Amino acid sequence: MCGIVGYTGSHEASPILLAGLRRLEYRGYDSAGVATLDGPRLVLRKKAGRVRMLEESLKEEPAAGVCGISHTRWATHGPATDRNAHPHVGGDGAVAVVHNGVIENHAALRRDLEASGVAFLSQTDTEVIAHLLARELGDGDDLFDAVQRVLPRLEGTYGLAAVSPRCPGQVVGARLGSPLVVGLGEGEHLLASDPAAIAPHTARVAFLQDGEVVRLTPRDFEIRHRERGSITPRVDRLDWSPDLAELGDHAHYMLKEIREQPDTVRDACRGRLRRGEGTAAFGGLNMTARQLRRVRRVVFAACGTSWHAALVGEYLIERLANLPVEVEYAGEFRYRNAPLDDRTLVFVLSQSGETADTLGALREAKRRGHPTLAVCNVVGSTIAREADGGIYLHAGPEVGVASTKAFSAQVAVLTLLALHLGRLRQLSFPDGLAVVEALDRVPELLNQVLATEPRIVEAAERLAKARSVLYLGRDLHYPIALEGALKLKEISYIHAEGYPTAEMKHGPLALIDPETPSVFVAPRGALHAKTLSNVEEVRARLGPVIAVGTEGDADLARLADVFLPIPDAPEVVQPLLAVVPLQLLAYHVARIKGCDIDKPRNLAKSVTVE
Ligand code: G6P
Repeated sequence: MCGIVGYTGSHEASPILLAGLRRLEYRGYDSAGVATLDGPRLVLRKKAGRVRMLEESLKEEPAAGVCGISHTRWATHGPATDRNAHPHVGGDGAVAVVHNGVIENHAALRRDLEASGVAFLSQTDTEVIAHLLARELGDGDDLFDAVQRVLPRLEGTYGLAAVSPRCPGQVVGARLGSPLVVGLGEGEHLLASDPAAIAPHTARVAFLQDGEVVRLTPRDFEIRHRERGSITPRVDRLDWSPDLAELGDHAHYMLKEIREQPDTVRDACRGRLRRGEGTAAFGGLNMTARQLRRVRRVVFAACGTSWHAALVGEYLIERLANLPVEVEYAGEFRYRNAPLDDRTLVFVLSQSGETADTLGALREAKRRGHPTLAVCNVVGSTIAREADGGIYLHAGPEVGVASTKAFSAQVAVLTLLALHLGRLRQLSFPDGLAVVEALDRVPELLNQVLATEPRIVEAAERLAKARSVLYLGRDLHYPIALEGALKLKEISYIHAEGYPTAEMKHGPLALIDPETPSVFVAPRGALHAKTLSNVEEVRARLGPVIAVGTEGDADLARLADVFLPIPDAPEVVQPLLAVVPLQLLAYHVARIKGCDIDKPRNLAKSVTVE
């Protein structure tokens, strides 16, 4: 949420900062700004709207200098206006600061500053940092020291970067709860909230930890911890090529990422299927078979789409491993008194590995002494580093705000996990092998689903006129119905609700009329006949029906206005197939409605505030 890019080196800073912001725009996109150091002058440019608006204004009024900071914002305090955009400036241009996170005591700090005569220009919480810094930065003082003196006064979370004309060539950053990473180049250094902004310049990075402050100059960088003093940084290598995040010929990142899913599932399973033993294996769990067998309960904590993936995991683990599973919203779990016994394994799921609530849930479980594991996509992310062990998704960068391929990778990994836990318990070799074989075929079957896109466009044309849509699914398909509804509301702004099919008659049925379509997720399975009766109930009330079902299912096809086929496959892998038509459906509805698909209003990809 919000993106930060800082640069110091020998090249003009503003083109580098802008290119970095474009790569981070998916994290926040309601306003953007840069501040550069041009000799003794601080140059400030900021604009409400997308990064391209800032780019236009920089063409007219360039910001010169080889050192600077920049920001793309997702508003928390104050609407998206030029004034509220970052950077914020203190002391008449003595210092500029950009900030991710929330300063919880900003109101009290602002009152004190105003009482001492400081005039505020914005409604943001961030501006207090700029004024506090300006006050600490006496003539000729050191920005690095000033930042360290100000930080203890801030309550809340921050990833921040600051520059001052009094310290030419320096970018100072600090982290508490909001990620920051340093990029180590030749004669230049970068600072960013996300490695995506750094990857085009260098693969050598140092992730800042909470409580650390960094000073970058073109030649070197220095990290200090607020309690432990100077730190010897650990330098990591980014393992993904910057090209992976390029759009290529696709109209949108979301479409690109939907179409990548055959590869996503293949990559998530790569090296993890053990055909000879009818099971799956993981490198990074850091738990022995004996320890895993002792587990009596699994708690998953996650947000958004990752929460839906966890729900599929619940059904799968119960089915294959007969282990009780609970799925918690991370933002609830972290503050609840959830009873956990010492044989409970806490698993958090997060594509970004930075979601504030999910990180909070992980820390709460650790604080209580539980083994914690994480399913993450972004290598080196905070959650991946803080968990005791985990499973990487290997899905590559996901840019579209509406998560698609990360969901499929999570479901694939959870299917492997359910298989692994099952084979440590009651699941027989033949039953385990059947799951291995089913997973093995999924990429090829996904290609068949993707080939049905023209039929999905037809369904999208019907849905685009709706004001409200119901998504219904039973058993493993209930979470898929939830995910389908989430996709539609996120990117097309049509109200959509997901329900377990059997629950329909306890309320949602009252909504059914000729204007309110229902999307049934109903591939053939043990409960299929019951679902067909539910479809009949909707038809009897003249509700339009779109149905995702098994190819050749004439009964369902006859009942549906539009039938979206998926290939026949064992039930445990059906969620991986059934979600794809729903992703494409949401995509095409949003496209028909002319929505901004990759950057839906009010949302952000990585939510680093509570
Ligand atoms: C935001 C994103 C969603 C995502 C959720 C959890 O709301 O817009 O797409 O599912 O955060 O993100 P995570 O990175 O923890 O999976």
